[in-house]
Amino acid sequence: MSRAAALLCALLSLACAAPPPVPPRGWSSWNVLACNFSDAVLRLRVDALASLGFVAAGYVYFDVDDCWLACDAAHRSPDGSCSDARAGRDASGALVADPVRFPDGIKALADYVHSRGMRFGMYLSAGNTTCSGFAGSWGHFAADAAFCAAAGADLVKLDGCGLSADPARGRLARDAAYPALGAALRATGRDIVYSCDSDELLRNVNNTEWPWLWGPRAGCDLFRVSGDMKDLWPEVVGRVSRSVNVAAFTGPDKGWADLDFLSVGQGAQSDDEYAAQAALWALLASPMILGVDPVALEADLAAGGARGARANATLALLLNPELLAIADDPLGAQAQRWPLTLDGVGEMWAKPLAFNASRARAGAGGGSPGPRRPPGGWAVGSAFAVGIWNRGVVPVAPALGLQDLFGDHNGGGTWLFAVSARDVLGRRDLPDAGEFFAPPEPLRAHAVGLYVLRVESAVCVSSCDHNDDDDY
Ligand code: GLA
Repeated sequence: MSRAAALLCALLSLACAAPPPVPPRGWSSWNVLACNFSDAVLRLRVDALASLGFVAAGYVYFDVDDCWLACDAAHRSPDGSCSDARAGRDASGALVADPVRFPDGIKALADYVHSRGMRFGMYLSAGNTTCSGFAGSWGHFAADAAFCAAAGADLVKLDGCGLSADPARGRLARDAAYPALGAALRATGRDIVYSCDSDELLRNVNNTEWPWLWGPRAGCDLFRVSGDMKDLWPEVVGRVSRSVNVAAFTGPDKGWADLDFLSVGQGAQSDDEYAAQAALWALLASPMILGVDPVALEADLAAGGARGARANATLALLLNPELLAIADDPLGAQAQRWPLTLDGVGEMWAKPLAFNASRARAGAGGGSPGPRRPPGGWAVGSAFAVGIWNRGVVPVAPALGLQDLFGDHNGGGTWLFAVSARDVLGRRDLPDAGEFFAPPEPLRAHAVGLYVLRVESAVCVSSCDHNDDDDY
């Protein structure tokens, strides 16, 4: 939503905030720094994100997670967490940023972030404390929203810590806390993305009412669908499995299902696994918030050798413009799992795309953006991003029946179809497909093949029962 629209909504007390039109991209302090940061440490990350090309590629949210609030020295643990939240508010109840970490205040960092072309993200928690023991926002939602807006926040994440662990009371607190901060953020008149992280509720309160059901009602622009991401392959598998049947609940009009930070580049998984993760996050229209340390990436590049090669692979993946175009597709559809069995170990996720031939395949002769549909049949111009995922460890190369994907041509007659195929991760055109498409090489263990498939032409060969020209 534009700033002017946000202001108008606030003035008229209207709940008319809309989610960002595409899932946000950026970086968060949590995965690699946890509570070990200072203003200076964070500025180095801002600089590295800019110089590595992430900011230009749309990773613009710079999110400072938990641990930015004050905690007196006597209650600070060696890991930086806090055992007494009281120092996080002043006598009037206003939030106090840690004066040791932020000698010039939190706004000075926000200003620096803005000066480098990024947007500033801040963290709050819904209960009495944050997950790392700092001051929580329960009872202070309006004042804390105003504090964040005044500090220059463009995104606020509300965590679920510090609420009652009793299921019934936890649910009540959730139903009060998340909508209250949403309304308070809108009332500031600032255009702020509202990121709802209810993982504590999912875990502790046995919440069976999933965040994609209540998140949009609570005004959440992003709603976390899982616990915290660790740099482990099963974490990817679990999140994607949970995303079956969520597509109807996400999109630019509802909000984005947040699979949590990308662990790509953190080091514990294979390059194929990281490529699969990035492809799946783009297909599932999740926010893509980096967990990797950009300063470590710079050091790896400088070291060269195997370290440098891996850092280069990480950058090529995360900055791949064709993958990011899928993430940014204006239709905003979340991929759905398609019927496909790869010997019980694989699956296909397909995301309908709005973009046309000139982006799907450079030099493919353009094509009109809107689909043209032969009677009863295929739509020329319709395109899907398709992820064929080998969840197992034995290489596979399944053939897809494209008729299943693009629809039946049961209007009568015999049609010949040409479907262009672009290998997004390999950055190459593949031979046009007819009614079947297969990955050009077998997919290795855990790999995703990511392709853009687009109907280029549908030509009637004989007996087509329609009164238009035959070629579309
Ligand atoms: C929770 C959240 C994480 C992170 C930590 C900070 O675990 O889910 O994303 O914000 O708290 O303490």
